[in-house]
Amino acid sequence: MPDRGPTLILGVTGSIAAYKALDLIRRLVGEGVSVHVVATSKARPFFPAMAAEVLSGHRVETNLFSRKPYTQEEKLHVPHLSLLSRADAVLVAPASADFIARLALGLADDLLSTMLLSAKVPVVIAPAMEEAMYLHPASAGHRHTLNERGVLEIPPESGSLASGMTGLGRMASVDQILSVILPILRARRPPTGVLSGVRVLISSGPTFEPIDSVRFLGNRSSGLMGEALARAAMARGAQVTVVSGPTALPPLPGTTHYGVTTTREMEDRLRELFPAHQLLIMAAAVSDYRPRDPLPVKRKKDGKDWTLQLAENRDILLGLAEMRQPGQFLIGFAAESVLDPAALIKKCRSKKVDLLVANDISNSETGFASTQNEVTLVSPEGSINAFSRADKRVVAEQILDAVCKEGWPPAP
Ligand SMILES: Cc1cc2nc3c(=O)[nH]c(=O)nc-3n(C[C@H](O)[C@H](O)[C@H](O)COP(=O)(O)O)c2cc1C
Repeated sequence: MPDRGPTLILGVTGSIAAYKALDLIRRLVGEGVSVHVVATSKARPFFPAMAAEVLSGHRVETNLFSRKPYTQEEKLHVPHLSLLSRADAVLVAPASADFIARLALGLADDLLSTMLLSAKVPVVIAPAMEEAMYLHPASAGHRHTLNERGVLEIPPESGSLASGMTGLGRMASVDQILSVILPILRARRPPTGVLSGVRVLISSGPTFEPIDSVRFLGNRSSGLMGEALARAAMARGAQVTVVSGPTALPPLPGTTHYGVTTTREMEDRLRELFPAHQLLIMAAAVSDYRPRDPLPVKRKKDGKDWTLQLAENRDILLGLAEMRQPGQFLIGFAAESVLDPAALIKKCRSKKVDLLVANDISNSETGFASTQNEVTLVSPEGSINAFSRADKRVVAEQILDAVCKEGWPPAP
């Protein structure tokens, strides 16, 4: 069976950081990448191959002289060539000093090095080793050679190393590696889908309005709904930009991410980005009010009550709707305590959106800070579609299905 998403050969070499490859596999598979692990024989003691096989769904290969065909259709089995023929890129993470040297010298003494000598696809390495090994002139020279040959290095970080020392050489974080490899894979195998090439702008998370230098007015939005929408839009081929208030979630690899804090910062960023996007999804739970006079320092307790005066923030969505150009599609979210159909249709029209996603915040099992949501989709023409409670990833698909029906996006 051919792989559906982009295909990556993940080379794993003999570094203590090999255990991190499991997390890398899990995250790559979650992004729709088919991962085929090729481990050096020296990586095996550091690396639970069975876990890698379960996570990737594919056999971990090590043996250059394997007689087991990779697929039933294969007539002549040449492991390094048959695996390579499926690959969109090769990532070696962790890449040991020894392996980097062999790659630079063009050695072909095991499956991974032989494969790389034949590779015509992008090759990326994420070195992991002690600082002295990394900075040794021999290693530096090998990396220089590889760089000149077009091999991309994701440099290691500084931090505590396996030896107990602190220094440069810790493998780049999984997030950092994903932020490099996913765009490479997607550029080689763009996702096909109804949102192919469409630029989608998503606001996500809460906004925080300062009360003094340490306190703020905020809400419990987790950003999970915005993240689910970003993933679903990317899986349908969209180029996704996320403007997010403060959340515990890291930027989603593959998206262009802007972090903001206040409602006004979010408004400024969205107004700047909106003209270059065709689909706007306002999933952020912005603060409607801000303290009128935030204090520049922390207010000390003084035995007295403290009365805050709140100023109303501008309605971001309404402002964006007024900037709308033909062909742009706007989706607004409305957190409601009561879902009254007539009031929802009225709200959808007054907000000038093409689709209103209403959710009932009186239910503590859905909405803010929950992994689930229960939404009602409302159109300005008056159609109302109530969905039952589901995981936010499913809800994201329901919302995009509603956008993609009836001929949107328009043909380029
Ligand atoms: C406990 C232990 C940890 C090691 N960690 C690293 C490491 O992080 N980076 C590295 O380049 N080599 C490390 N090595 C040395 C490599 O395993 C060794 O150079 C080996 O030949 C690499 O083989 P490979 O490149 O074929 O995987 C370590 C060795 C041991 C015994």
